[in-house]
Amino acid sequence: MGVSLGLPQIRGAGPGPSGAPREAGLADRHGRRATDLRLSVIDKCNLRCTYCMPVKGLPWLPAARLMSAGEITRIVDVGVRQLGITELRLTGGEPLVRADLEEIVAGVRTAHPQLPVSLTTNGIGLATRAQALAAAGLSRINISLDTLDAATYRALARRDRLAQVLAGAEAAAAAGLAPVKINAVLMRGVNDHEAPELLAWALERGFALRFIEQMPLDADHGWTRAEMVTAAQIRHRLSTRFRLTPHPGARDGAPAELWDVHPTTPAGAPEEVPGAGEAPLGTVGVIASVTEPFCADCKRTRITAEGRVRSCLFSHEEVELLPLLRAGATDAELAERWRAAMWAKPAAHGMDHTGLDSPDYVQPERPMSAIGG
Ligand code: GTP
Ligand code: 5AD
Ligand code: SF4
Repeated sequence: MGVSLGLPQIRGAGPGPSGAPREAGLADRHGRRATDLRLSVIDKCNLRCTYCMPVKGLPWLPAARLMSAGEITRIVDVGVRQLGITELRLTGGEPLVRADLEEIVAGVRTAHPQLPVSLTTNGIGLATRAQALAAAGLSRINISLDTLDAATYRALARRDRLAQVLAGAEAAAAAGLAPVKINAVLMRGVNDHEAPELLAWALERGFALRFIEQMPLDADHGWTRAEMVTAAQIRHRLSTRFRLTPHPGARDGAPAELWDVHPTTPAGAPEEVPGAGEAPLGTVGVIASVTEPFCADCKRTRITAEGRVRSCLFSHEEVELLPLLRAGATDAELAERWRAAMWAKPAAHGMDHTGLDSPDYVQPERPMSAIGG
């Protein structure tokens, strides 16, 4: 308790039997098993999106507290070899703020040639680094982009960077970082009217667009349910220009529910219009964390930039790994602590999706920017 910045309660110094079965990887007591590692490489970001970061930024971690490229590789190694991790996503803050991101990717790739390694980024600076990241072994990329309008971008991200993000997305595609996924958070009266246009833009370029419900994880604690654009409202908006049908195939714990996108049938046209049976234009994803939660199928485990395990995006507890690693712990000791942290993963985030906000929901101290999505 009582660490700096009022950040979450830290556990892990004491031994204490966790009850976590050794052979089950990163299991929890609700019957889930985490195989998807989301590792934040830095807490710092070069944007100030209103739904995420305060205008003045946050007190960033000093460099010495961040995991080095070598330490990141070691932690990933423990996850893969000892705990059954099968995919890795690098997040931030903004991961491209780290000058050694290519080195991080290359380190992991050399140790684990088959591991899918993806990146979630705001795309700033990507235009000049996409090739090098692909060459270092990055598998694919998710880019955050909420609007195609420069003035709206400036208001939302509090920086005038739209052109750089668009160039970054094109460069990622050219570098073969496919599929390029685009994440858009919609906000009522700000960019929600742009949903169909964003989808048309993404479909034209072969990008996989996903709309995200805004979650109460902003550092300013400014989230209100009334302002959140729900998944149902997102689908309704898209229906003005497209027809959505459920995308076949298993969702398999993924945050995004996928829809096939078809052109709308012109008003008054018969059911059997020419082209009606043709392949869809593409897909769109809707990530409905608040109104249609997917916690029951969660496969995610998180490591913060200072090397702490978070069992859930909404955790109030974190467990230190980095000091143990720096003190010379063995892989088995690191794995045991990580396993114990995940055994305590809460069943769900506690937001009541039926109506009013649940009195049980308490926003974690750590803001989204320092978790990395
Ligand atoms: P892929 O589809 O495999 O590329 O992964 P992803 O969708 O998990 O990746 P990304 O980092 O782009 O995350 C997109 C959004 O999903 C995040 O911004 C969050 O809004 C949401 N999300 C990711 N993980 C979780 C989670 O564990 N819980 C909840 N509630 N939302 C999550
Ligand atoms: N709610 C939902 N998504 C968020 N993101 C950042 N803050 C929030 C929030 N409060 C998204 C970003 C980015 C990803 C890392 O997380 O848009 O795509
Ligand atoms: Fe925006 Fe992501 Fe930076 Fe937050 S961390 S301010 S969502 S770009």
